Amino acid sequence: MTQDEMKQAVAQAAIAYVVEGEIVGVGTGSTANFFIDALATIKHRIKGAVASSEATATRLRGHGITVFDLNDIVSMPVYVDGADEITAEGAMIKGGGAALTREKIVASVAERFICIADGSKLVTRLGAFPLPVEVIPMGHAVVARKIAALGGTPRLRMKDGAPLITDNGCMIIDVPGLQIADPASLEQQINDIVGVVSVGLFARKGADVCLLGMAEGVRTLEF
Ligand code: 5RP
Repeated sequence: MTQDEMKQAVAQAAIAYVVEGEIVGVGTGSTANFFIDALATIKHRIKGAVASSEATATRLRGHGITVFDLNDIVSMPVYVDGADEITAEGAMIKGGGAALTREKIVASVAERFICIADGSKLVTRLGAFPLPVEVIPMGHAVVARKIAALGGTPRLRMKDGAPLITDNGCMIIDVPGLQIADPASLEQQINDIVGVVSVGLFARKGADVCLLGMAEGVRTLEF
C-alpha cells in the first residue's frame, strides 16, 4: 500500500466512529481530506460538521455538507483528524498544516478524538517532527527566544517569501531539536509563554483512538 492508500484506508475506517444524526468535528490536512471525501458518501446520515480550518470548511461545503459555527455547538461525539506524530500513549504533534489552534479548540468540544494516520506517524518519542507553535505576530521573536531557552531551534514558518499567516491572523514558529520526554509538561510550559496562542502538542488531551494505516491493513489503538 502507498502512503496515500493507507491514509485513504484509515479515513474510510473512521466513518464507523461517526454517530448518525450528529455533528462531526473535522480536522485539517491530506488525511482529513480523505475523511471528508468519505464523509460525503454518508452526508445524509449526519447533521453536519464543524471545521478546524477554512480549507476544511471549503472542502466540506464543496461536498454539500453543512458546516456549523463552533460557537453554536455545545458538544459533539467525535473529532476526526490526522497527526504529524503519535505515540503508543496517544500523545501527538500536530500543526504541520498550520491549523493547530482551531484543531485543539474543536477537539476540546468532542467527546472522543479519533486520530487517523499512516503507520509512519507512530513514534516512540515525539520530536523528530519540528514542533509547531502558533504565536501573536508582534511577539514572535520574544517567544522564539524563550523557546530556544528550552533547547529547541525555533524558525518562523515562511510561505512565498513571507511569514505564513494562519486562519487566525497569527504566525507559526516550527521548533526542531526538542527532546520531548514529557509531552504533557512541555505542552504546559510552552502554553505558559506569553505570546503563544497554542502549541502543537496534544498530550494533556490526546487521542482516544488511533486508526493506523499499515501494510497489512488498519490497526486500531485505544488509549
Ligand atoms: C494540520 C495537522 C495535520 O493533521 C497533520 O499535519 C497531518 O497532516 P497529513 O494528514 O497531511 O499528514 O495537524 O494542522
